[in-house]
Amino acid sequence: MPATLFTHIKQLVNVRVQTPALRGSDLAHLPCIEDAYLLVEDDTIAAYGPMSQLPAINHQPSTINCSGRFVLPAWCDSHTHLVFAASREAEFIDKIKGLSYAEIAARGGGILNSARILANTSEDELFRQASIRLDELSRLGTGAIEIKSGYGLTVETELKMLRVIKRLKETSPVSIKATFLGAHTYPPQYKDNHQGYIDIIINEMLPAIARGKLADYIDVFCEEGFFSPQETMTICRAGMAHGLKPKLHANQLQLSGGTQAGVALGAVSVDHLETMDEAAIRSLAGSSAIGTLLPTAAFFLRMPFQPARALVEAGCAIALASDFNPGSSPSGNMNLVVAMACIQMKLLPEEAINAATLNGAHAMELGQELGSITIGKKANLILTRPIPSLAYLPYAFGSNLVERVMIKGEWI
Ligand code: NIG
Ligand code: FE
Repeated sequence: MPATLFTHIKQLVNVRVQTPALRGSDLAHLPCIEDAYLLVEDDTIAAYGPMSQLPAINHQPSTINCSGRFVLPAWCDSHTHLVFAASREAEFIDKIKGLSYAEIAARGGGILNSARILANTSEDELFRQASIRLDELSRLGTGAIEIKSGYGLTVETELKMLRVIKRLKETSPVSIKATFLGAHTYPPQYKDNHQGYIDIIINEMLPAIARGKLADYIDVFCEEGFFSPQETMTICRAGMAHGLKPKLHANQLQLSGGTQAGVALGAVSVDHLETMDEAAIRSLAGSSAIGTLLPTAAFFLRMPFQPARALVEAGCAIALASDFNPGSSPSGNMNLVVAMACIQMKLLPEEAINAATLNGAHAMELGQELGSITIGKKANLILTRPIPSLAYLPYAFGSNLVERVMIKGEWI
C-alpha cells in the first residue's frame, strides 16, 4: 500500500472529527495541531497527531520532513465556469473605458460573445483548454471544483460543454461536480420569447442531460434582465424532477429575489450575493443553503464586495469560490480569493480558510469526503512553503506560498 508520512508539520490546519457545514461564529474556529505528523495511506488520511505521539509504523512510508511548513486541506472551489472557448480581454478594455457589465451584455458581448465562440470550437479543443486551466489550478492548491455549462445555450452546445466536464471528471484527479446552467441568458432569438427558451430547457435539454447522466446540479442566473425568480423556480423544479438540485446565481447585480427563490427551492447553495438586504440575509440565515461568496468577481467588476461580516453575524453558512470565467473573474486562484476575502470583506484568516475548504466542500455535497483533516477523508492537501504564521497566507497575497499539492494521495 503506497503511504506518505508527513513529519514535523509546523501546523496541521483544520483538523476535525465531526465535519458539518460551519455557520456564524463557528467559522472563526479553525482547529490546528502544532508540530504534527500526518499519515496518508493510498488516497486517504489514515492518522495524525502531535509528533510526540508519532506511533511506530510497520510498513515503510515515504517520509517528508515539513519543518517550518503548514499542511492544509486543499481548496474546494464550489463555483466556476472553467470550460470556455476564449478569453475576453477586449471587454476588459471596454470596462476600463467605462462600460458596465450590463451595458456590455446588452450589446451582445458577455455571455453571448462566449456562446458564439464556443459554438465554433470543437469538443476536443474545449477539453484541451479546460485541462490546461484545471492543471494550473490544481498546482495552486485546488483539489475539488464545480464546473458549469452555460456558454452553449442550444441543446447541442450545452450537451457538448457537459460532455467536456464529464471527460475532465474521468481524466483529472481533482474531484469535479457538473452543473447545468442552460439558463445563463436568453439566446438572441428568444429575447422576446422567454417561454420558448424555457420550453427547450425543460423539454429538450433536461431529458437529454438526465439520460446521459451529464450533470449533478442545476443553476439559473436569477437577475434583472436575465431570469426572474418565477422563471428560476420553474426551471429548477423541472431540473429537480430529474434529480438535479439547485445551486443558483443570486443577488449579483440587483436585489433579484434569487436568494429567497433558492431558499424556497431547498438549494444546496446561493452564490454571488453582492447585493443583499435584511430580508435576503435573514432568509439565507434561516436555511440550510450555503451562501457562496465570489470576491474576485466583485473585484474584477469593481462592484461592492459581498457583505461577509453581516452574513456571518446573522448566522449564515458561507463558502468562498473563484467564479473562474472569462467575463467576470478570469482567475481561478483560490489563494487570491482567500486573501481578497480577508482584505476586502474583513473575514478573519480562520473564517476564510474554513469557507474555502470545509464549507466549499459542503457547497458541492462533498463535506463527508473532503475539506478537512479527518481520518477517512481523501488526502487532498496543500503543503505550504516555510511561512511564519497562517495569517501570512492571505497577508502576503502576491506570493505563491503553495510548495506542493497532493490530490487523493498522489503528489501532482
Ligand atoms: O458568474 N453572472 C453570470 N455569470 C458569470 C459571468 C459570465 C460571463 O460574463 O461570462 C458570473 O459572473
Ligand atoms: Fe458564476
